[in-house]
Amino acid sequence: MKILAIETSCDDTAISLVTINGSVSKPRFKILAHNVSSQIKIHQPWGGVVPSLAKREHSRNLVPLLIKSLTEAKLLKKKGKRTRDFSPALRLKIKKILEREPDLESQFLAIIPQLNIPKIDGLAVTRGPGLEPALWVGINFAKALAQVWNKPLYPINHLEGHILSILNTTKQATKNKIDKIEFPVISLIVSGGHTELILSKNWLKYKIIGQTRDDAVGEAFDKVARILGLNYPGGPEIAKLALSAKNLKPETLNLTPINLPRPMIHSGNFDFSFSGLKTAVLYLTQNLQTEQKFNQDIKAIIADDFQQAVIEVLTTKTLLACQKFKAKTIIIGGGVIANAALRQALDELADRHNLTLFLPDLSLSTDNATMIALTAGLRLLAGRQKNARIIKADGNLKLA
Ligand code: KG4
Ligand code: ZN
Repeated sequence: MKILAIETSCDDTAISLVTINGSVSKPRFKILAHNVSSQIKIHQPWGGVVPSLAKREHSRNLVPLLIKSLTEAKLLKKKGKRTRDFSPALRLKIKKILEREPDLESQFLAIIPQLNIPKIDGLAVTRGPGLEPALWVGINFAKALAQVWNKPLYPINHLEGHILSILNTTKQATKNKIDKIEFPVISLIVSGGHTELILSKNWLKYKIIGQTRDDAVGEAFDKVARILGLNYPGGPEIAKLALSAKNLKPETLNLTPINLPRPMIHSGNFDFSFSGLKTAVLYLTQNLQTEQKFNQDIKAIIADDFQQAVIEVLTTKTLLACQKFKAKTIIIGGGVIANAALRQALDELADRHNLTLFLPDLSLSTDNATMIALTAGLRLLAGRQKNARIIKADGNLKLA
């Protein structure tokens, strides 16, 4: 089956087309199109994502991204069964669905009737968690397409998408093949909005065993980056700066014992807390500035120690969870797993403790729609995905 997936939960507008076959324990996938339109440049001046701007950009990006994706997947034909000319009643329905997205509405009504109906089996769309104004744009677009193309519509949980993005893992990302997944599995989600440890006793079963009590890991990266005067999003910037600390002269290092905290590392449970770590960076930076010792080298050392603190906490808790629940397989998902040092630390952890580790490809680490299509596909193969005509955005949607 072919799924067209739409993801607009934060500041990336994403559309993918994926073919899915096989069975739940042996799924087979082929990505026909994978497009992400990043809004980083729009939000950068504000130091973070501005929901109203994200909504506006999604509204403008979706139709062009759809055309690009259908073209890449060779599903856009010059001739072929055209989407019927919209009757006045259908136009009215579409206008109602898209009434809150004026940019999208005008593009939709101008362009979609000219397309042939693509040979797809259904549409998948992220319904949460995320920024609700942003989520609604994707949901309403998906609803309008499902209406005019007469296709089933599948609402998908973004977090489940991050976990299942490893289904399409290639050799570069992970040494292991999907058939090496042995339950129970411990999954770790590390994104801009979430830090969660999850126990799965079977496919599509999730029990949250620990989560952050304050900031998410990605959020901590972004806030610490801002304190250090770096651009948004902070994760890649901190990673780059931390790398430069490796080349610093010993004199600089000796002068600056940093010793940032490793919050809750020995708490004995699976919860996290990162806001204290961020505050520690803030005070340290302020003190160094007062003493006029804050320079590029010190900045790199702080970035490196912050990243190291995060890595130590994440790897320690993940290992503890595997030991407690006798899990042999670890799955990691979410934007922060794009971090090379974290990937390497997890790799070493898995080797040392004889665990099977699955990391997503880099292109599937940060937000994308392929993971949403993969999730819809796996749920359909398992007979666990319902067609829904009424979908509501849920900014706080939980894994269930
Ligand atoms: O999963 P994602 O794309 O969006 C959410 O669902 O939140 O994650 C975005 C987060 C941002 O906080 C960003 O700073 C972080 O992932 N991130 C990184 C790296 N690349 C992205 N954090 C650390 N190192 C990176 N290389
Ligand atoms: Zn995400």
